[in-house]
Amino acid sequence: QIFPDSDLASRAAADEIAALIRSRASEQRCCVLGLATGSTPVRVYQELVRQHQDEGLSLENVITFNLDEYLPMAPDAQQSYVRFMQQNLFNHVDIPAQNIHIPDGTIATEDVPNYCRDYEDRIIRAGGIDLQLLGIGRTGHIGFNEPGSTADSITRMVTLDPVTRADAANDFGGIEKVPSHAITMGVRTILQSRRIRLLAFGDHKASIVQRTIEGEVSTDIPATYLQSHSDVQFLLDPDAAALT
Ligand code: GLP
Repeated sequence: QIFPDSDLASRAAADEIAALIRSRASEQRCCVLGLATGSTPVRVYQELVRQHQDEGLSLENVITFNLDEYLPMAPDAQQSYVRFMQQNLFNHVDIPAQNIHIPDGTIATEDVPNYCRDYEDRIIRAGGIDLQLLGIGRTGHIGFNEPGSTADSITRMVTLDPVTRADAANDFGGIEKVPSHAITMGVRTILQSRRIRLLAFGDHKASIVQRTIEGEVSTDIPATYLQSHSDVQFLLDPDAAALT
């Protein structure tokens, strides 16, 4: 779907999430959301906060699983995704703290495999992800599933692509300070979500959006795996959609 601008696309995503939260609440059920970081989803979170403050939207029945986190990363560090989520969403809504799950960037390397298996188990125990929000990296990564990630990959430690590290260099004050690794949900974890909504804005995303939607499904562009999902939508602004 191509929207007149990124604000309207963000608003549409937030409206769908809010409607899902409300419909689950009316059935006294939880709503399990998969959440993304980066600049792209910020206005979705702003709109959810606005609806919480102005329209009585409650997130008490919401359980969240974030896609990824740098490794190593202290939760209170400037660039941590824990901090990002607190600042952009969690500090401003009524989601119970125990319902929030973000991969732990302080985990020791030898404990990572067990930790990742447990992250997968926690998603299953929550009932699976109802709606996964995604951005897309210029390498075609979703979460931090870089080129080479397979369709059956699950939550694990990954090595970041040099393009991804270059794109994050500003946030870290230099590419050499960007962590070389991360923990990410896998492609399979993402594809198991019932709905997937990917947002992409700006002309720097136009080429990867075109290759993701129109290209062959390939491990070279992990986002192409989304083509096989039965309920996936791309919400684009005109610049990101320019080449499709
Ligand atoms: C990071 C995140 C991804 C995100 C990507 C794009 O790599 N791990 O989940 O999609 O950045 O970021 P932005 O939205 O700032 O372009």
